[in-house]
Amino acid sequence: MKFKLGLCGLGTVGRGVVDMLTRNGRTIAERTGLEFSVTRVLVRDPAKERDLPPGARLTFDYRELIEDPEVDIVVEVMGGRDTALEVILGALRGGKSVVTANKEVMASFGPEVFAAAREHGADLFFEASVGGGIPLIRPLKQCLVGNEVSSLLGILNGTSNYILTRMAAGVEFSAALREAQQRGYAEADPRADLEGHDAARKLAILAAVAFGARVKVQEVYTEGIGGLEARDVEYAARLGWAVKPLVMGDMLEGRLSLRVYPALLPLSHPLAKVDGAFNAVLLEGDFVGRTLFYGQGAGGAPTASAVVGDIIEAARNRLNGHNGVGCTCRCEVQVADMAEHVCQHYLRFVARDVPGVLGRAASVLGACGVNIHSVLQTPLERGEAELVFVTHPVREGSLREALAELRREVSGLTLRTHLRLAGVAEL
Ligand code: NAP
Ligand code: HSE
Repeated sequence: MKFKLGLCGLGTVGRGVVDMLTRNGRTIAERTGLEFSVTRVLVRDPAKERDLPPGARLTFDYRELIEDPEVDIVVEVMGGRDTALEVILGALRGGKSVVTANKEVMASFGPEVFAAAREHGADLFFEASVGGGIPLIRPLKQCLVGNEVSSLLGILNGTSNYILTRMAAGVEFSAALREAQQRGYAEADPRADLEGHDAARKLAILAAVAFGARVKVQEVYTEGIGGLEARDVEYAARLGWAVKPLVMGDMLEGRLSLRVYPALLPLSHPLAKVDGAFNAVLLEGDFVGRTLFYGQGAGGAPTASAVVGDIIEAARNRLNGHNGVGCTCRCEVQVADMAEHVCQHYLRFVARDVPGVLGRAASVLGACGVNIHSVLQTPLERGEAELVFVTHPVREGSLREALAELRREVSGLTLRTHLRLAGVAEL
């Protein structure tokens, strides 16, 4: 049986999809009885030279692609938000199944696009939107669907993880970012990676599937790796930790806590060894126990693997006259306030190296209920010293009050980096 694809986007992921369908087309046909060809390709820039799949026609107007009666399945790998949303909604309303890698659209417009899919009897698959090539969405919707998931901990941004891994090897932040971009890991606007928004979108999508609850991406507490310096990665290693760009979701007393930030993990933790553009998700279900998913989270080939898997699933469903599992959210859930989150903190300050600064800082922290676990002091040049405090577990709200008090009360002390340690719940 032959299926024709409308491919929106011929960049890192789009090329990967074409390569996989070309190189593995025979294997796919033998295993599934299905053959795929790309009949239309949507791109933006008419000036670029293109190597098009045989027989494919180029278009710069998405309407031509989604309205083309020859196109059976629309593959949206163009990225961005508004046009991609119009493509997805337009294709579904025309009864065409859609496969997308777009976390921005899925995280922000999940209810709208699922409603269009349901109303028009079309499939909407988005495996590649979370974790690149790692199967996560379908395993959660199918194999693990009978579990109550209590927590998930993961690394879901390949660019940030790649940069931190390279910084641990002595490479400058900006050079590591350039490498990630050259390898096709970064978003078109890399601020989405560096400020944590890409990981927050992925966590919102994954948490909705894992916890069966509607999640708004704005409800995810989000910090990126942008403020980190090589010093922090060095201190972490000295203390026996790795700095990792974590996503965390925990169901605690009926409230869902959703967090994205770079955090310190003991080097013995399985995620501490997830390096480069690799991603991983460790989740806890009441019957399955702890389960670890691991693989390449970014890059053309791994992402194409997930997209092609979805294309095949959509084609099988077309043939069998049914649709796949749609939206699995069954409830609204209260989201926990970050101010109530309890964990240990790493605070790196630069201070004027004069008598009493360390003592005053420790007194202010103590007076605000922040108990210090350990301190490192390193003399710097120009009469300055670097102070690293690691606290005992403390409420985020109390820590913030203590930091504000330090700013007011201790002159000559500047907070350079604030990191959290992955807490008991995560370990
Ligand atoms: P990319 O390399 O920048 O390629 C984007 C492609 O889409 C280009 O061919 C571009 O056309 C086309 N395009 C973009 N906006 C368009 C518009 N408004 N109208 C028509 N064509 C447009 O992006 P990518 O890395 O392949 O990522 C694509 C999507 O996959 C994004 O949603 C991304 O978040 C997601 N994703 C990426 C990865 C990864 O590792 N790269 C992994 C998972 C998911 P031109 O060629 O003319 O510029
Ligand atoms: N920019 C994303 C990342 C691509 O670095 O993880 C994969 O979604």
